[in-house]
Amino acid sequence: MAVAESLAVAPFLRSSPKKLFIGGRWVEAASGKTFATLDPSNGEVLAQVAEGDREDVDRAVKSARASFESGSWRDLPPAERARILWKVGDIIEERAAEFAELDSLDNGKPINEMLFFDVPVTAATFRYYAGWVTKLGGVTTPISFPGRYLNYTLREPVGVVAQIIPWNFPLMMAAWKVAPALACGNSVILKPAEQTPLSALLLAEVLQQAEVPPGVFNVITGFGETAGAALAEHADVDKIAFTGSTEVGKLIVKASVGNLKRVSLELGGKSPNIVFSDADLDRAASSAHLGIFFNQGEVCTAGSRLYVQEKVYDQMLGSLASTAKELVLGPGIDPMTQMGPLVSEEQMKRVLGYIDSGKKEGATLTAGGARAGGALARGYFVQPTVFAQVDGAMKIAREEIFGPVLAAIPFTDEDDLIAKANDSVYGLAAGVWTNDVKRAHRVAHALKAGVVWVNCYGPTDPAAPWGGYKQSGWARELGPNALDLYTEVKSVMMDLS
Ligand code: NAI
Ligand code: MG
Repeated sequence: MAVAESLAVAPFLRSSPKKLFIGGRWVEAASGKTFATLDPSNGEVLAQVAEGDREDVDRAVKSARASFESGSWRDLPPAERARILWKVGDIIEERAAEFAELDSLDNGKPINEMLFFDVPVTAATFRYYAGWVTKLGGVTTPISFPGRYLNYTLREPVGVVAQIIPWNFPLMMAAWKVAPALACGNSVILKPAEQTPLSALLLAEVLQQAEVPPGVFNVITGFGETAGAALAEHADVDKIAFTGSTEVGKLIVKASVGNLKRVSLELGGKSPNIVFSDADLDRAASSAHLGIFFNQGEVCTAGSRLYVQEKVYDQMLGSLASTAKELVLGPGIDPMTQMGPLVSEEQMKRVLGYIDSGKKEGATLTAGGARAGGALARGYFVQPTVFAQVDGAMKIAREEIFGPVLAAIPFTDEDDLIAKANDSVYGLAAGVWTNDVKRAHRVAHALKAGVVWVNCYGPTDPAAPWGGYKQSGWARELGPNALDLYTEVKSVMMDLS
């Protein structure tokens, strides 16, 4: 464990093994087992973490249930719950350096991305939902049934909510799930990914500091097949929210059937980023670069299929290949780093496998195409990779790679483009670059995607809905939409006659 003592997060990392957070207490796993989480820039152990399993999940569900039924959180005056959630945002900002260093070490991502994106978006998400707490009213509805009636609706919390998150934005994914669930008055059990379990534990510290009552927020670290599966099946979990692979999303749906718990899913993507020849090509090129290399390409909305109109195809591709070659790779914790390692050896191998398949299927490699060597050979680094002349039938054009690999595909006109862009089992996001305002709207409307960026790629705000069509998931997170995921609507009908 060679973490620099000068880091703000050093004291947190020193107290190892990390424990589970259940009922407001730090506890060991019932089995006593722990697992190692690694620094992917060098493969060294960063910390030992409690390996939660079925028995621990059961304890956490019991404590969440008890806190929910006691009303310690949901029955607080809304303004008081709002104040606490707002305070969470403040403390996250105060402890920004710790969070930034922690996810940077655990995931590999550049610390500057943490400081300018993940951490501020996380604080903003808690504040956005803090604002909703005092506005979760219902409606009164005129009733035509014979007689005289008063009908009104209440929005009530769903109850015990389990949330399973991935490793690509560990802290921010936690916030997207936890903030709306708590705002609506639920009690939560969060399971972070086994590759990046640490920032959820630091978040538990922060929620405790902000005085979220015991049992309202619980963290179970552990593996998907054990702790995650136990949460998905649990008969006393009322709702499960999941972000991760489409494959596991389907397992969650199956596991949820036992008690028909509510399910929301944010799954994979293969998002088209589309450049028409009349676009501002410099901005389109730098944004396409970020669209695929930001966060090492480990982004559910990564612009991994780049469609470029034929006339400007060579120009765009030339520019993308040269900026890809200039990217500075290194450990995320080094502020000079522009792209870090992939999260794990497994993910690196998966991505290298896709690169091999692109080469075999005959795409033209114009940048990258291999693991990074030299001083970076100990870590899980993959070179920023650009494939040109990709055919829509190739695996690299169809499957989610979740790494720094761009598949560029030429198109002729709008009709050709729409058919190609929508030819996917996914429908998470899309980008459109054009200065023709009518075309911008036409294409935005024709795309089967839950998020469409026009003349930009990637801006994200807690107030704007997020989620996908087709196999990219069920329902929408963020914005007012997330409130629907975490509330039940009750219709109260009173006879006034
Ligand atoms: P994954 O879907 O296995 O992991 C995501 C989360 O699900 C983790 O917390 C994991 O512990 C949990 N999980 C795994 N199996 C489970 C089960 N049977 N029951 C309940 N929870 C379970 O993703 P993985 O294997 O790490 O990555 C594989 C691929 O998935 C990536 O290459 C990428 O294509 C995709 N992915 C997509 C993400 C997105 O944001 N859309 C995020 C992470 C991965
Ligand atoms: Mg997995």
